[in-house]
Amino acid sequence: MSDAPSVASYFARPSTGSPGSLGGMPHDDLLTLARDIAVEAGALAHRRRIEGVEIADHKSSPVDVVTLADRETENLIRSMLSDARPDDGFLGEEGGAERGTSGLTWVVDPIDGTVNYLYGIPHWAVSIAVVEGEPDPLTWRALAGCVTNPVTREIYTATDAGGAFSGNQQLRVTEPASLDQSLIGTGFSYDADTRAVQGAVVAGLLPSVRDIRRFGTASLDLCAVATGRLNGYFERGLKPWDHAAAALVAREAGAVVAGLGGAPASDEFLIAAPAELLSVLERELSKLVG
Ligand code: IPD
Ligand code: CA
Ligand code: CA
Repeated sequence: MSDAPSVASYFARPSTGSPGSLGGMPHDDLLTLARDIAVEAGALAHRRRIEGVEIADHKSSPVDVVTLADRETENLIRSMLSDARPDDGFLGEEGGAERGTSGLTWVVDPIDGTVNYLYGIPHWAVSIAVVEGEPDPLTWRALAGCVTNPVTREIYTATDAGGAFSGNQQLRVTEPASLDQSLIGTGFSYDADTRAVQGAVVAGLLPSVRDIRRFGTASLDLCAVATGRLNGYFERGLKPWDHAAAALVAREAGAVVAGLGGAPASDEFLIAAPAELLSVLERELSKLVG
């Protein structure tokens, strides 16, 4: 379904790291680092937004833009991480990938919601996660993640088995009564053909749900499931950096994050919702996706 390159292809060099050695840093310390860097990077991107956005390039399609701020923000994150954790790997949307030797990889979306950023819609995020194992969503174990909206100053954090938080407040999903009472978020690809299929799926789902939202920032959509601003969320074709941190936030808040037909969540398809809703939503989506 997805025409994205496989995650393995982001990495040219074989691993030299030992899988058991994680650099000796507890998850809370990894989270503190992720949060501190996300906040500083968010402040830079926010300043650049106020100064004026410049498009640097187009990626997968003419509507898939990269701004100078996307690149500058990722460079800042990468250099701060490499100062603090020189042995870790890096997988960022704008800069490709670098293998580490520690068994940990930082998965970074410097500006998630670039189209919102471009239009001055105050709903975009910096997303930083640290994962253990191969940096492949199908097999990695996310240890810590932070998603922050620098405009609203909301900061979502989670550690593996340590809970999800917005600031100091622990997050817990709310289970809606039924699918027809559920507010469901989704997102669309930058590719026109894929969008046509996604539009048909949304049209098919719309009569069965309370309503649909397309906010434009996948990481914040997943955090919205964690806070109860959305009951559920699904999207086809996400990239690892879109969901690495926020799927951990959603999971730690009690959501199930899965793929279709019993498959695990992946870049192919991701659904997040409280358990009961997830099984109903997954059934509907499986019928519609075909
Ligand atoms: C996009 C946003 C959007 C989602 C797209 C992503 P970007 O990320 O998260 O909500 O629907 O699939 O590509 O390009 O703004 O970093
Ligand atoms: Ca993104
Ligand atoms: Ca991005």
